[in-house]
Amino acid sequence: MKSIDDVMEQLRKMTVKKPEIGLILGSGLGDLADEIEGGDRIPYQSLPHFPEPTVKGHKGQFVIGKLEGKTVVAMQGRYHHYEGYSLNQVAFPVYVMRAMGIHQLIVTNACGGINTAFRPGDLMLITDHINMLGSSPLIGPNNDEMGPRFPDMSHAYSQQLILQAKNAAKRLGIHIQEGVYLATHGPQYETPAEIRMMRVIGADAVGMSTVPEVTAASHLGLDVLGISCITNMASGILNQPLSHQEVIETANRVKADFTDLIKSVIRSI
Ligand code: 6GU
Repeated sequence: MKSIDDVMEQLRKMTVKKPEIGLILGSGLGDLADEIEGGDRIPYQSLPHFPEPTVKGHKGQFVIGKLEGKTVVAMQGRYHHYEGYSLNQVAFPVYVMRAMGIHQLIVTNACGGINTAFRPGDLMLITDHINMLGSSPLIGPNNDEMGPRFPDMSHAYSQQLILQAKNAAKRLGIHIQEGVYLATHGPQYETPAEIRMMRVIGADAVGMSTVPEVTAASHLGLDVLGISCITNMASGILNQPLSHQEVIETANRVKADFTDLIKSVIRSI
């Protein structure tokens, strides 16, 4: 693909590292990238075909270096559909990371809990997802070099990586939930009626990211691990309004566990 070739040409001037694992860091969870040793920092703006990031607190750079002995590429900041980027643009960095050499992708996010057994601050391994974005990042002509026209989504999230993450959580004594992540385009949070509907159709958590990137990863045949931080309960569950402030505060509170879990999983890959 021409655009990927353009990016790789520029990247080769900025780093010689060959990452094997990709990491997408969600809202309030980007600090993990600061623990990457000898990390080459590559702002998205320095690369061709990358749109400019707009949201405050989303840094917008690749950090490539060693974490737990593995070479990783972390996305510190991601593109969201609600910012006005197409799903195509949101998923584009996943194709770039594949071209860099990754075979596994760890995707993280902050999201709202729908399952009433969840509590704010819980971490949830994503077992599956529901796409309520109303579209797909794969719309358009298929690039047969990247993957099939009609990708199978039966195992979008790797059973093996889920098992490794569960074992890592057990080793660390971190309480972990599992469930289905539902993506909306946002940016508004849901109404209580929407949350009741989402519970009925099988969602445990709801957020505004992850699904485009994981759809692209499925297209590419990457092994995906998804970890959600339940930063708040979804609308209508608790008698309190939702706020982005709460999302950031909770993400900050669980950052240490979250970081330990990811590092332990990476060690086990
Ligand atoms: Cl409750 N909904 C959505 N769509 N995204 C969220 C959220 C809720 N909480 C954090 N992110």
